[in-house]
Amino acid sequence: ATNKIIIAIDGFSSCGKSTLAKQLAAKLGYAFIDSGAMYRAITLYFIRNNVSLQDHSQILDALSNIHLSFVFNEKSQQSDIYLNDEDVAHLIREMTVAEKVSEVAAIREVRSFAVAQQKRMGKKKGIVMDGRDIGTVVFPDAELKIFMTADPEVRVKRRFQELYVTNPHITLDEVRHNLEMRDYIDSNREESPLRRAEDAVLLDNSTLTREEQLAKVLDWVKERAQTVDVS
Ligand code: CDP
Ligand code: CDP
Repeated sequence: ATNKIIIAIDGFSSCGKSTLAKQLAAKLGYAFIDSGAMYRAITLYFIRNNVSLQDHSQILDALSNIHLSFVFNEKSQQSDIYLNDEDVAHLIREMTVAEKVSEVAAIREVRSFAVAQQKRMGKKKGIVMDGRDIGTVVFPDAELKIFMTADPEVRVKRRFQELYVTNPHITLDEVRHNLEMRDYIDSNREESPLRRAEDAVLLDNSTLTREEQLAKVLDWVKERAQTVDVS
């Protein structure tokens, strides 16, 4: 028999965390939550409402007006994020958001707001969540923790190809600079910096296809989800 478990995936920007999380969720019938989408949606709200990142009462006030939810989209077979009942799945991928999100995600009040909601989503297990602090802070007891990485230039090319579809003016340099900046801020902030949990398995997918990475990780899931049938 197998038990439903929690799978926590952390790692650097654009190394394929969401891709893997989505594959796993589809295969296992689990929920998939992209925690980065929450920080991106909060950032979009802050930009739209000119929230000053130095003003803590303004930040708390803004957070009290934000309601985030995930709604399953049959077509894309994944959950789209809604910001106060508006589907912002596409808007949060824009560079204007990517340029600000790490600064916003470093704010303590923003993190406690997002983390509280993330912890609630894991109550029933059977969930794959990816981000930066999932194995260290959100689900420290997750049965399977994965820390993903890939060669920086491979990550730049992957993200460039994604963004190019909707933004043909984007350059490799622009993408490289954004990934470097976010990795730096995410790894060096005071509040739950990006780091590998001691018990996380390292996965470098620089030369792995999507199919190869899934096969590898499904073996790890099998080991972790195995239980003794007591009946
Ligand atoms: O673009 P990419 O998919 O690599 O990043 P993301 O997962 O969408 O996350 C965007 C940003 O949100 C990250 O660069 C972090 O600053 C922040 N983040 C975080 O602080 N903690 C998380 N658990 C997830 C994202
Ligand atoms: O979530 P994260 O920012 O870590 O990355 P992602 O958005 O899942 O993946 C970034 C890009 O890399 C996507 O376009 C994936 O299709 C691609 N990818 C790949 O080419 N090979 C892999 N083994 C994994 C992801």
